[in-house]
Amino acid sequence: MQEGVCDLEQSLAPGLREDIEAAGAAARARWGESPRALVRTYGCQQNVADGEKIKGLLSLMGFSFTDAPEEADFLLFNTCAVREHAEDRVFGNVGALKNIKRRRPEIMIALCGCMTEQAHVAQRLRQSFPFVDMVFGTGAIHRLPGLMGEVLGGAGRAFLRGCQEEVLMEGLPIRRDGSSWAWVTAMYGCDNFCSYCIVPYVRGREKSREPQAVLSECRGLIEAGYKEITLLGQNVNSYGKGLKEPVNFAGLLREIDKLPGDYRIRFMTSHPKDASEELFRVMAESRHIPRHIHLPFQSGNDRVLGEMNRRYTREKYLSLIATARRLMPDITFTSDVIVGFPGETYEEFRDTLSLIEQVEFVNLFTFIYSPRAGTKAASMPDPVSHEEKTKWFAELLKVQEAVAAKNCRKLVGARQRVLIESVNSKTGLLQGRMENALTVDFPGPPQRVGDFAWVEITEANGSALRGVEREG
Ligand code: SAH
Ligand code: SF4
Ligand code: F3S
Repeated sequence: MQEGVCDLEQSLAPGLREDIEAAGAAARARWGESPRALVRTYGCQQNVADGEKIKGLLSLMGFSFTDAPEEADFLLFNTCAVREHAEDRVFGNVGALKNIKRRRPEIMIALCGCMTEQAHVAQRLRQSFPFVDMVFGTGAIHRLPGLMGEVLGGAGRAFLRGCQEEVLMEGLPIRRDGSSWAWVTAMYGCDNFCSYCIVPYVRGREKSREPQAVLSECRGLIEAGYKEITLLGQNVNSYGKGLKEPVNFAGLLREIDKLPGDYRIRFMTSHPKDASEELFRVMAESRHIPRHIHLPFQSGNDRVLGEMNRRYTREKYLSLIATARRLMPDITFTSDVIVGFPGETYEEFRDTLSLIEQVEFVNLFTFIYSPRAGTKAASMPDPVSHEEKTKWFAELLKVQEAVAAKNCRKLVGARQRVLIESVNSKTGLLQGRMENALTVDFPGPPQRVGDFAWVEITEANGSALRGVEREG
């Protein structure tokens, strides 16, 4: 199978083909017969999945792709707004394009994604980045060909945001980044309004795709040889709200699991308030779902969880972990955690540390709180200095390192089924992902990437695992 060319010719949404053809013709008129695009995606898997749709559209418009800004005719930044650092990087990188645009005024520079859905960002781009030609929001991906056609036709700069309600859920081409693993969007948006989080403001309300659409995308991928499918949503456990036929996420997983083939189904993200025993039962009974769940807890302290509007307690979280372990003794957990939420005290932070030690996560994604304009937490008093939070953060990393190393030591001697994802560029070894979400490096030829293999873990160095292949 060729890399990254799946689903390009699926049935396109009405009107899209005409827009694609018109924009393709305008692109060739400006940039010649083989125009080149750079698409740089920041942020979470949802954005990566959007990036694949954008690349699908550009492919059909006749673009090939490059990572080098100097070589590209069309440069698009697919942005993330979740923390300030993410936004600063984008502003820095876009600012650096000014010189390229000065040298080659015929290029087109565009921004899309979560950052652009914020009014103050759109304003700043309009005023301070005059060399940016086009901005479109998270719900307007299908408008890319139309907008490009307009700008190339001389209509001036195009700014389109505030259109999350428009999200086109079906009929977009997808140019996948991988040939053995794939993202499949189960639902768009988020209704939870955790008090620190910008996502509901930039991604709009929750919308679930019809189960038949998800199922047939998965079926197509498995038939095309894909080995790992990750279902995406900001809170997959509330999948199904608002659909004509009642179905929940556990039911959707059960249906996908029935598809024949040798493959894995993963999913993210699960919100603890909606994770159910039914979900764990489906996982326990399934043939294709790895015994691993990403279940963000954010904080181990009930007052902080309340202020975060997470709508579960430490006890509820721990009881979910216990239920999952009762049904699947070998299940592993990964999680997200925020350090230094406004008003969090050191004592409260220590509850986060104790929860980490209690659950023994195999991996944690850790963040220092970053105020986001327009969210509730951004107006809460935040007396602890950034310097102090950085110290807490370092303490947390130490605790997690010890927990992770302990988890890894336990694996030495075990034989694990891995999906070979890549060749480690530093060591030249193959890198395989186990069911438990950890990776192990082992020797083997690069053409094995994309295969399943059985690997015996021979060595744990902190959380770095080494192994050897052991078939049979
Ligand atoms: N929908 C997912 C997560 C989306 S954002 C969920 O609910 O779990 C990914 C992670 O970024 C969050 O889990 C959280 O840990 C972190 N995050 C979100 N907003 C943040 C902020 N303002 N500051 C620091 N971390 C944040
Ligand atoms: Fe943000 Fe909460 Fe929604 Fe996750 S569930 S995207 S943290 S608001
Ligand atoms: Fe970032 Fe948007 Fe994802 S804000 S984390 S890219 S939903």
